[in-house]
Amino acid sequence: MKLSDQKWQEHVADRLGVVAGFQDTLEQIDREISRQAEEIDSWIRPHFRSLLASRGKRLRPLLVVLSAGVSGGIRADHVALAVVVEMIHVATLVHDDILDGAAIRRGEPTATSRWGNEVSVLLGDTLFAHALRICAKLPAGSVERVATAVCTVCSGEILQTQRRFDWSLREEDYFEIIERKTGELFRMPCEVSAWLNGVPEEAGRALGRYGMALGIAYQIYDDCLDLLGKEELTGKTLGTDWGGGKPTLPILYLLASRSGPEREELIDAFHRGRFASREDLLPLLAENGVLPKTRSKVEAILSCARNELAGFSPGEPRRAMEEVIDLLGNQVDRLIEGMSAGRRAENMLPGGA
Ligand code: FPP
Ligand code: MG
Repeated sequence: MKLSDQKWQEHVADRLGVVAGFQDTLEQIDREISRQAEEIDSWIRPHFRSLLASRGKRLRPLLVVLSAGVSGGIRADHVALAVVVEMIHVATLVHDDILDGAAIRRGEPTATSRWGNEVSVLLGDTLFAHALRICAKLPAGSVERVATAVCTVCSGEILQTQRRFDWSLREEDYFEIIERKTGELFRMPCEVSAWLNGVPEEAGRALGRYGMALGIAYQIYDDCLDLLGKEELTGKTLGTDWGGGKPTLPILYLLASRSGPEREELIDAFHRGRFASREDLLPLLAENGVLPKTRSKVEAILSCARNELAGFSPGEPRRAMEEVIDLLGNQVDRLIEGMSAGRRAENMLPGGA
């Protein structure tokens, strides 16, 4: 069965939880996340309640749980780590939506559109600081690992901001950016989870590489959604990457499909705003092998993720980790096949970005 974007967005963790028997732990994590709002100063408690109640995919907490499962078992520290990781993720989204000027996230108005940029910056800061407060109760070394990952995420965002509208960005620079801004917040939960179980360093690193590969593939999927997805299905504002001049992978592959004066002409058209809305780009993206090339890249990355699991015993947690790979691969196929089969309207945002 192929899940719609919406279902995948909403139920990936639930579905895997049922399959692999981690439902109780995931529900415990959810309750803990919601409870954190009660620990916050009363005048921002409603903001926190609403931010923490908005149900995302809970992918990163799931990675904490599954990595714990394959590396020796799930303990209370893993539940706390999962809460920390999700709160940090929510903090990054609050800030990201300010940077991208996004109006909708997780099917609700974003923090910035509800409370303005000033309050939202500070809400993101509070979420992050509160997450570190919880993290400080974990074994020594946890805060350093978590905070270092957040520094890497921020450096990726800075690099990305500095390269906006730079259509000469090389593919390797693009990967450097997404490894940092997205991959790191998938890598760290896996590696720290294994570290909490005291596994040999190489096993933790293998899980970290699994998380990194998954995060990179996820970001490429997200890049494709920005151009091809439907806002009402993804529950977030789309077209902000394109509108904000972020050179995403499909755009880089489109540029790579041309050379010499043709390429210069296309870059010039980008700069002159010839493709003001993302719909204008769709005919170009549908040609030139851009989307199949993007899909092949995702497949290769997901196959690296799968290889990293080879050394772990083939029980339920590992099967669930493989299922996460399959779910993501299917979503990318579905999005890109829809475009290639000419079902463009299905994937298009009515009325522009
Ligand atoms: C989504 O990218 C955003 C990220 C991957 C990271 C954003 C991180 C920051 C803004 C740093 C925040 C720092 C702290 C300390 C809270 P996207 O815009 O490609 O994805 P989207 O389509 O979901 O918006
Ligand atoms: Mg964004």
